[in-house]
Parts: sequence; C-alpha cells; structure tokens
Amino acid sequence: MTELREAVLVDGVRTANARAHPAKGWFRGLRPDELLSAVYSGLFERNPQVQPDQVEAVFCGTANQTGMQNDIARFGWLASGLPVNVATNGINQQCPSGMAAVEHACRAIMCGEGDVYIASGVEDMQNVPMGMGMDFAPRLADYWNPADLPMGANSEKMSEVLGIARADQEAVAYHSHLRAKAARDAGKFDSEIVPVKGLDEEGNEMVVDKDQWIREEPSLEQMAGMKPAFKPDGVVTAATASPLTTGACATLFMCREKADELGCSYYVRYGGGVMSGYDPTMMGLSAARACARLLERKGLTVDDIDVFEAHEAFGVVTLAILRDLGIDENAPFEKANLWGGALALGHPLGESGCRLVITLANVMKIDLPDARRGIAMMCGGFGNGNASLWEKV
Ligand SMILES: CC(C)(COP(=O)(O)OP(=O)(O)OC[C@H]1O[C@@H](n2cnc3c(N)ncnc32)[C@H](O)[C@@H]1OP(=O)(O)O)[C@@H](O)C(=O)NCCC(=O)NCCS
Repeated sequence: MTELREAVLVDGVRTANARAHPAKGWFRGLRPDELLSAVYSGLFERNPQVQPDQVEAVFCGTANQTGMQNDIARFGWLASGLPVNVATNGINQQCPSGMAAVEHACRAIMCGEGDVYIASGVEDMQNVPMGMGMDFAPRLADYWNPADLPMGANSEKMSEVLGIARADQEAVAYHSHLRAKAARDAGKFDSEIVPVKGLDEEGNEMVVDKDQWIREEPSLEQMAGMKPAFKPDGVVTAATASPLTTGACATLFMCREKADELGCSYYVRYGGGVMSGYDPTMMGLSAARACARLLERKGLTVDDIDVFEAHEAFGVVTLAILRDLGIDENAPFEKANLWGGALALGHPLGESGCRLVITLANVMKIDLPDARRGIAMMCGGFGNGNASLWEKV
C-alpha cells in the first residue's frame, strides 16, 4: 500500500451564528443555501490562488436534509454559481455531520483521491426546524422507549443517570458565555467569521459579524430561576441547552504538496478521526467513546492533548464527556472550550462539527502557539459520536 499523504487545513470560515427565530433572528430573511454561498465566497476571496474548479469535491454536513435543506450540498454549490464539474456530497450524521464532512475530505486527500476539497456544514433551524419531516422507524420502539429519544429527553436522562447537578450545568453555560464574550471582544473570532447582511430585531439591515447568542451579562442567579425546558420536574433549561441556531461554515483542505505548490499557508493537519456509536437515549457520551477510541488507537492519553473542543449540546453533555474521559470535573475547564461553546455560540446542528475544527485550529494558533495536538469531539442525535485529532504541522 502506498503511504498516506498529509491533509492540511488551509482555511476555514463561518458565518456568525444567529438565533433561529422568525422575529428576532438576524438571518431570518435568508435561506441556508445563501449562507453557504457566503462562506464559499469567503473562502475563494481569501484564497485567490485557488480556483473553484480545482476543487475535487465538496462535502457538506446537514442534520435535517429536508425542505430548503434537501440536497443542500448540491443546491448550495450550484446556486452560488460555482462550477458544475465539482462533485458535491451531502453528509448526515446528525450533529457531527460537519465533522464527518471534514473527515471525508481529509481521508480522500490522504488516500490520494484528490488534492483539494471543501468540507462545509450548514443548518437553518428556523426554516428547517429540528425533526421536520422526520418519520421515526416504528420498530425503534421494540428496543427503545420513543419518549427517551429526543435530545431534551436525552439530556434529562443523562442528568439523572449520571447524577450531574443542575448548578454544575449552569456553571458550564455561565463560563461558556464569559469565554465566548472575551474571545469575541478580543477579536479572536474575526479571522473565522465572514460578514453577512442580515436584519436586526427592529428589521433594519445590519452586517452580521458577531454571534447572536452570546449573553453580555450572564447571571447564575437568573439561570437558577429558569423553568425546566423538557419536563416539569427536570433540570435542563433554555440556558443549559444549546439554543436553536442558524449558521454555515466551510473549510478548505489540501494535500500538503498541493498547498505548497499553490503557496497556501497552513497550521494544522488531520491526525485521524474515529466515529463511535452509543446508546441513543444517552447520546452525549458518544463523543467520549469516540475520543477514547481515538486516543487509544493513536497511543495517546488525555495528557498528550493540549486542548479540546467538547461539544456543548447541553451543559450536562459536556460535563459527562469531560468527566468520563478524566479531562475535567467542572467549568471553567482548564483545557477545553477556551473560547466558549455551543451554549453561548449556538449550535446549527450540521454546522457545528466543522466549526469546532475551525475554532480549535484558531485556538491553537492564537492562544496556544506551543500546542502540538488538539482534539475536537461531537456527540450527535441518536448516538453518533465523532472525534478528530489535529496536529500542528
Ligand atoms: C431549550 C429550548 C427548548 C428553548 O427554546 P425556546 O423556548 O424557543 O427558548 P429560547 O432559546 O428562545 O430561550 C427562551 C428565553 O430564555 C432566554 N435565555 C436563554 N439562555 C439564557 C440564559 N443563559 N440566561 C437567561 N436567559 C436565557 C432567551 O434569551 C429567551 O428569551 P428572549 O426571547 O427574551 O431573548 C431550545 O433551545 C432547544 O430545544 N434546545 C435544544 C436544541 C437541541 O436539541 N439541539 C441538538 C442538541 S444534540
């Protein structure tokens, strides 16, 4: 077998994340294909040495592939006026879809199937609400209680079974907002966000270049008073659940030789990825299983990893993952989610896995220039976990 090539991340951009809300969301006048156009244009404008028709294929992660997001991979590309010779492939792994898209691109490069790929992710949870058009296989009920399958029910079950306290979950949300706000105010997201025209809450045109969900003054007291969102005697609230969000992102990957030939710079390379299935009623731990398996296969331990991005689907999920892996016990986390996570930044389902990779690479570059390795990990609806290793080149 020929030797595997290196897949390097040349660039990654995203739109800001906006509320998926018909009256308040900054992107409420846009469609998901338009958001994809914005990130594809951003990539090509920032990398003029790469022509769109040099791209071998585009992988695009989207969790809910129906309505405006039906074959969004193809329509988003063609509706951007981009060349027909470039193949597109929609990927669905629920929340890790964007990470799976990245891994498909990197694996194709490593195997020598092509030199230049785009991996993207998009979710417009306003125009295509979670679960729209979903028709659960009735025979799932032979194995699982259907009431335990939705994400909110998962988060409550995990809180109970793992004994993770509401206050600890709220601390995750609190520090997520503080960190996201600090990163935003220091301009750390500026290199990843492409500005997009949207609407403010009064309906005036505005340039959206900041994430909408970050709270200016998060308050533990206020969070403690919020009503449970998923069951009357539950512990998970709108503060400790990732909010309904709209956003898109896109990454440009190349084999190292091609990047050098085109004069592109890069900072990290793909070090491998692992997917893992898990109990669909405790889906959060799927990310921990994927990460544990990734570490084992690479002969590494958590101590060998300088920084983690652990998806904040819910506060309870991040705690479950980090505790299970022995990375941390409580927020603020020493080496995870240094710029906040989905509780503050939002979680456009199919986008987030790709965004975590972009943010992880930027954290490594901007905050931790001595960091050698980072891992991004995502849990996903119905028990799909995914983790990927990123190595400084
Ligand atoms: C929890 C959930 C049901 C709440 O939805 P919702 O009722 O539409 O509520 P919102 O998110 O709009 O929030 C309700 C209010 O709480 C507020 N709120 C949210 N977080 C808050 C916080 N940390 N502190 C104070 N208030 C907060 C919101 O700002 C909003 O008030 P506003 O409209 O005046 O701004 C929804 O966000 C949800 O389903 N999340 C999970 C999504 C999911 O499953 N994703 C996949 C994960 S695997």
